[in-house]
Order: sequence, then C-alpha cells, then structure tokens
Amino acid sequence: MDLKSYLEQARQRVDAALERYLPADTGSGTLLEAMRYSLFAGGKRLRPILCLAGAEAVGGESGPVMFCACALEMIHTYSLVHDDLPAMDDDDLRRGVPTNHTVYGDGMAVLAGDALLTEAMVLLTDPAAYGGLDPVKVLAAARTVMRAAGLQGMVMGQAADLEAENQEPELATVQFIHSLKTGALLTASVVSGGILAGGEPEQVAGLRRYGRRVGLAFQIADDLLDLEGDAQRLGKATGMDATRGKMTYPGVVGPGPARETGWRLVDEAAAIAEALGPGAEPLARLARYIMERTN
Ligand code: IPE
Ligand code: IPE
Ligand code: MG
Ligand code: MG
Ligand code: MG
Repeated sequence: MDLKSYLEQARQRVDAALERYLPADTGSGTLLEAMRYSLFAGGKRLRPILCLAGAEAVGGESGPVMFCACALEMIHTYSLVHDDLPAMDDDDLRRGVPTNHTVYGDGMAVLAGDALLTEAMVLLTDPAAYGGLDPVKVLAAARTVMRAAGLQGMVMGQAADLEAENQEPELATVQFIHSLKTGALLTASVVSGGILAGGEPEQVAGLRRYGRRVGLAFQIADDLLDLEGDAQRLGKATGMDATRGKMTYPGVVGPGPARETGWRLVDEAAAIAEALGPGAEPLARLARYIMERTN
C-alpha cells in the first residue's frame, strides 16, 4: 500500500463528511463561522484517520464509523482553539492561518471551542449519524472518546502542562503530560473505531496498546518539530515551547534520546499492528509516519 495516497484519500473522505456534519448556514452568524474557520483551516486529520483505520484493523468497514471520526476531529480542533488562547499558549498562527482568537476575539474563540466539543457529543449520539450500528457499541465508543477528552485525558493533560511551566524537568511528569494531553485522544481514536466495527476484546486491547505508543510518540515528535522543524511547513510558530518554559520530552532527556524513544515506541506500535493481521497494515504504516513527519 502507498501510505501517502491512503492518507490523502482518507483525508478527503473526512473533509467531505465534516462538511456534511457541520455545514455553513448563513443564519447562524459568527459562532458557526468561527467554528468552521478552525475546523476547515487544514490539518492532517490524523485522529479521524486513526479511527477509520482502527475499524479496518479489526476486519470491519470504515464507512459506518465516519461519524465518530468526525466527532474526534471536532474535539481535537476545539482543543487547538483553546490551546492557542492568550491564557494558555498564546499563539498567533495555527494550520497556516491566524489563530481563532486573533480573528474572532478571545470570547468567541472560547465559545467556538465549547460548541465544537458539544457538537461532537451530539454527533456521537445521533442515531441518524450512527445508522445501523449497535447502540450499545455506540455508547461504549462515545464513552471512550468523551473520557479521553476530559478529566481522565486531554483536559487533565493540558492542566498538567500549564502547571509544569517553568518547573524542574522530570521524566515521569512529561510522560504523564504527553500521554494525557495528546496520547489519550489518539488512543481513543483507534480504540473507538475498533469497538464500533465489532472488534473482539483482544483486538481492542491491541489497538489500545498501539494507541498509547503512537500517542506518546506523536507528542515527542511535536516537541522535536517545535525545536528543529520548519514553521512554514508546520503552519505554526516554532521555538514557542522554550519561550513559554514548557516541559518537553527533548527538554527533559535531550533531542537525541527523545528521538530514540519516539522511534522505539512507533516500532513497537507497528509490531502490535502487524500482529493484528492484514487489515491493520495502514496502522502499521501510520505508526512510523508519526516520527517521519515534517508537519
Ligand atoms: C497538534 O496536533 C497538537 C498536538 C496534539 C500535538 P496535530 O499535529 O495533529 O495538528 P493538526 O490537526 O494537523 O493541525
Ligand atoms: C497541545 O500540545 C496538545 C493539545 C491537546 C492541544 P501543544 O501545545 O504542544 O500543541 P501545539 O504545538 O500548540 O500544536
Ligand atoms: Mg499547549
Ligand atoms: Mg500549543
Ligand atoms: Mg507543541
């Protein structure tokens, strides 16, 4: 398989579905405009793609899980809008365009994020969106996603990230932050796809082990790109972690060891995916892309 064309095709399917689930509506004013501004600014669509690939990995079809894939991207986009606020990372550029709050103001950016999160919950529990899937599985997947977004996942990681600013670097702390702020939602992406597609408990457990490794590696790569990457390609400023006193993986162990850890994690993840069988080939390929990426 060609990973580049797989990613491109999946991205186009996700974009088309997002357009259906959150269409432009001239009557809804600035709030919807602000939501769509960040949702359609670009972005790799990695979380939805992992959800679709998680369904394929257990031998299922990706089409029926698209609603969950889109909900994940709405939650992720909300997290970016809030992450960029002056009260958090205070960034001006995201996905190659000015950040939400620099265009719509801080208040509207808070609300656009809130509404993206709540629309994701509506979508996750919408019978018209989940169609013929077993509602018990939908509930389990929705709970997996929502738990990964909140107190036991992304938001807790973001809180720990704020509290760790300018603190003494510590490996256990940075692992905790990265696994929660980024790893949790990435793990929920593959796991929810596997649950919805009817994966057996051992298959879903494999997806969880895969997701944890890929999730931590993804934030290690993000830290490395902030340190060594190209802002133009990234569509966001570089060097900001040092400016803000963030606790980063390369900051704690050094860039070389951070890269080694990232590669070890994605190699392990690829091996886990390979053991899941031929349907998991996209996941195996995706794992290494996490460390190879330049944006
Ligand atoms: C950026 O996520 C924020 C992190 C969790 C590191 P992505 O690198 O997936 O950003 P987009 O969605 O492609 O813009
Ligand atoms: C953000 O981590 C993780 C989120 C949950 C949004 P970063 O703050 O490092 O993400 P970037 O570098 O701004 O994309
Ligand atoms: Mg941040
Ligand atoms: Mg940030
Ligand atoms: Mg970063």
